[in-house]
Amino acid sequence: MTDERLIVALDVHSMDEVHNLVETLGDSVGFYKVGMELFYSMGDEVIKYLKDKGKKVFLDLKLHDIPNTVANALRVLTHLGVDMINVHATGGMVMMEKALEAIKDEAEKLGIERPKLVAVTILSSISLKDWSRMWPDMDLDDQAVHMAKLVQEAGLDGVVSSPMEAETIRQACGEDFLIVTPGVRPAGTAINDQSRITTPAIALSSGATHLVVGRPIRSALNPKHAAENILKEMGSVKS
Ligand code: C5P
Repeated sequence: MTDERLIVALDVHSMDEVHNLVETLGDSVGFYKVGMELFYSMGDEVIKYLKDKGKKVFLDLKLHDIPNTVANALRVLTHLGVDMINVHATGGMVMMEKALEAIKDEAEKLGIERPKLVAVTILSSISLKDWSRMWPDMDLDDQAVHMAKLVQEAGLDGVVSSPMEAETIRQACGEDFLIVTPGVRPAGTAINDQSRITTPAIALSSGATHLVVGRPIRSALNPKHAAENILKEMGSVKS
């Protein structure tokens, strides 16, 4: 059975590339992430394609604007029937609450299951050096946990965070909370522009519920083989 804890990032910009990767990965992967690059290039065509293939979709547009704008944008996006969608937690409590209210209300009107709503705490690409230039007196780990608690208080389903913060977020927010972690790199693969990274097994045993993996699969010589190796490593850690 497909392990839906693995979400493969489709960071490409044409339907040909999407078809190639999804066909290549076949039944091994059941959950895909569509981010800005692909959604701004292909729009709802890609969502329809993935849903027709029976795949789950995480629409990763990281909305960050005033509450009214985010809520209205999410109403529109709810019509796409995706399974997960996100905002930036730094948009504020009111924004997150309005965002949740909007997707609940719109999904109810449409008679569909609402997408899970998760919020980005601190991007996993931000290094300690980068962080201390922006917020010299603030501890990154403490702040990530603080943000996660606010996300939970706003009623959202979970967070997108670095796997390095998963353990403390799990302790602070309890069991019933999604922790989606990009910045996952199997040992021996390129780090690229990520900073706060761990291996798939460490991310899961730290409390992550979903792993987002892009380049280690997409750029591999044999993407199916790379995905299967990650799935094998994940299989050794129970959910
Ligand atoms: O290629 P790679 O595995 O680094 O891809 C990670 C994906 O996760 C990218 O699509 C990126 O936009 C996304 N992401 C991230 N950090 C976050 C949220 C999302 O890297 N905090």
